[in-house]
Amino acid sequence: MSKLTVIGAGNVGATVADCVARKDIVREIALIDIVEGLPQGKALDMQESAPVHGFDTRVTGTNAYEDTAGSDICVITAGRPRTADMSRDDLLELNASIVQSVARQFAAHSPDAIIVVVSNPLDAMTSVAHAASGFPAQRVMGMAGILDTARYRAFVALELGVSVRDVQALLLGGHGDSMVPLPSCTTVGGVPVSELLSPETLQAIVERTKGGGGEISRLMGASAWYAPGASAAAMVESVMNNLGRVLPCAVQPSGQYGLSDLFIGLPARLGRNGVENILEVALSDEEQALLDASAAHVRRNLDTLRQKGFA
Ligand code: NAI
Ligand code: 2OP
Repeated sequence: MSKLTVIGAGNVGATVADCVARKDIVREIALIDIVEGLPQGKALDMQESAPVHGFDTRVTGTNAYEDTAGSDICVITAGRPRTADMSRDDLLELNASIVQSVARQFAAHSPDAIIVVVSNPLDAMTSVAHAASGFPAQRVMGMAGILDTARYRAFVALELGVSVRDVQALLLGGHGDSMVPLPSCTTVGGVPVSELLSPETLQAIVERTKGGGGEISRLMGASAWYAPGASAAAMVESVMNNLGRVLPCAVQPSGQYGLSDLFIGLPARLGRNGVENILEVALSDEEQALLDASAAHVRRNLDTLRQKGFA
């Protein structure tokens, strides 16, 4: 029997559960939150959508970790989202204590599971979940690169009037304004994007992608959930169905790209064991410098958390 636990039944958590349920790829989803009634109500609502969507996944809501026992995979969305006037880093210590607490409790009941972290600031929170769970790095990963790449692919497709299915792209680095889109790895139906868009248009798309989270929170006063939820569900699907998809995820490199001892966005192959391997792409000097700068930003958050015993 396969089981997903989603921790945090807020906007992103409920969307992850809904997306995974509709894929009908796990037998059971447990949605857990500290607010009483919230996960139970959302789970029941989702369960009642099953006949319409045609899925057989059983969705339950709970406030007790006993009900998450025996999970194969978990998505952590618990924590505060940013508001329009906040950066992701403003959430550092508050969300670290929440992620530490939920990862410990989850790991105690599902010691063999895989953890996907969504809470922000993403790369640092993935390190917190890694430390708190005690799981090997192969079984801990963070979701951000799929979202950032999806935003970038959507903007390229809109600009060119082509199907999003034909836009392939790669972004590296931390989830923040220092993320590193790689126009050199962007193709449209196999054609390099540089042959289709001017450098100025492409740069404008890159900048819009970097500020993509902020653009949405300024519009509606809350952070995004549809694209984040769908992105985390894609990671769950690649793991549970052992698809081996190559997706940009926050993973712990062991020397790849000259990086180690942190979680940061890199292309990874996701399968039933979690991170099956990290793929190395040859970067230009400029791209490597941007990735190093992004890693330095992630390390600053990590240093703060290590001093306070969170990572
Ligand atoms: P939300 O406020 O709608 O939901 C958060 C939920 O966490 C709430 O229901 C809250 O009760 C719950 N929670 C808080 N403490 C908890 C605890 N100790 N145990 C269990 N549940 C707890 O927020 P939203 O929009 O769902 O965002 C969740 C997190 O995801 C935020 O940190 C946000 O910044 C992050 N995020 C990350 C993205 C990414 O790309 N990595 C994209 C979008 C959001
Ligand atoms: C996003 O990029 C705020 O991390 C969140 O939408």
